[in-house]
Amino acid sequence: MPGSIALEARGLYKSFGGVLAIADVSFSVREGSLTAAIGPNGAGKTTLFNLVTNLYPPDAGSASCFGIDLTGHPPDTVAALGLVRTFQTARAFPGMTVLENVLVGAHLRVRARAWQQALWLRAVRDEERAIRRQAEALLEVVGLADRRDDSAISLPLGAQKLLEVIRALMARPRLLLLDEPAAGLNDVETAELARLLLAVRAAGVTLMVVEHNMSLVMGIADDIIVLDLGRVIATGPPAAVQVNPRVIEAYLGREAETA
Ligand SMILES: Nc1ncnc2c1ncn2[C@@H]1O[C@H](COP(=O)(O)OP(=O)(O)OP(=O)(O)O)[C@@H](O)[C@H]1O
Ligand SMILES: [Mg+2]
Repeated sequence: MPGSIALEARGLYKSFGGVLAIADVSFSVREGSLTAAIGPNGAGKTTLFNLVTNLYPPDAGSASCFGIDLTGHPPDTVAALGLVRTFQTARAFPGMTVLENVLVGAHLRVRARAWQQALWLRAVRDEERAIRRQAEALLEVVGLADRRDDSAISLPLGAQKLLEVIRALMARPRLLLLDEPAAGLNDVETAELARLLLAVRAAGVTLMVVEHNMSLVMGIADDIIVLDLGRVIATGPPAAVQVNPRVIEAYLGREAETA
């Protein structure tokens, strides 16, 4: 329902050894929105995704997805609730074609049981066909339809990243978390990604996107959450976040350190 909350985090904490990676992080993502999480390297963005998908448990705090508390759910159950994510370092699966790489994403939602598959009932066959059609349609959207039978790792890096996003879409998420989908993409691929993300949002899927590409973020995000040193330092629409002194300082400060 528009106006309701897709993802809510309350007082999350996580440290690794002496490093406080996430400190008292609370935020909410509006259903139907495209929310970006930004912040300098090491700000805790990926850790935040790892916490809400329960890749590891928070030291304190909790998160809920569409009102359901995520605490204690293993990652595959989290996905079954409709929360699907991609990984910052993910690449196409080797030894598989482009189409097969996309089809892998559907395993999360194939409801047919093993014995049904064994008997190859019509329902299963229809479902398999529908899945294949959806995969082909998504490949069409990102301009990879004519490469469906090629080895996936033969694709340029940018195309492999787009493949990863459409693989995640095959799971029919209600909330899709993307960790730096534009990393390594050239300008043309980035524009394609932007179009895809806007189409996904238009289809009613809520998106939370971690990204360093500021022009992409400022161009497509409804809301932005800014992290620095594990803490939320600003939230709001792009126009407000862009001119927020704390945000500017976080970015400039870090640049000065590495200069
Ligand atoms: N599994 C881990 N073990 C130890 N330290 C970790 C682990 N994961 C993250 N960290 C540390 O936590 C902090 C936040 O890291 P995180 O990867 O969440 O940042 P990020 O915002 O995603 O950065 P980037 O933009 O570079 O991807 C960093 O100091 C990092 O070194
Ligand atoms: Mg990261």
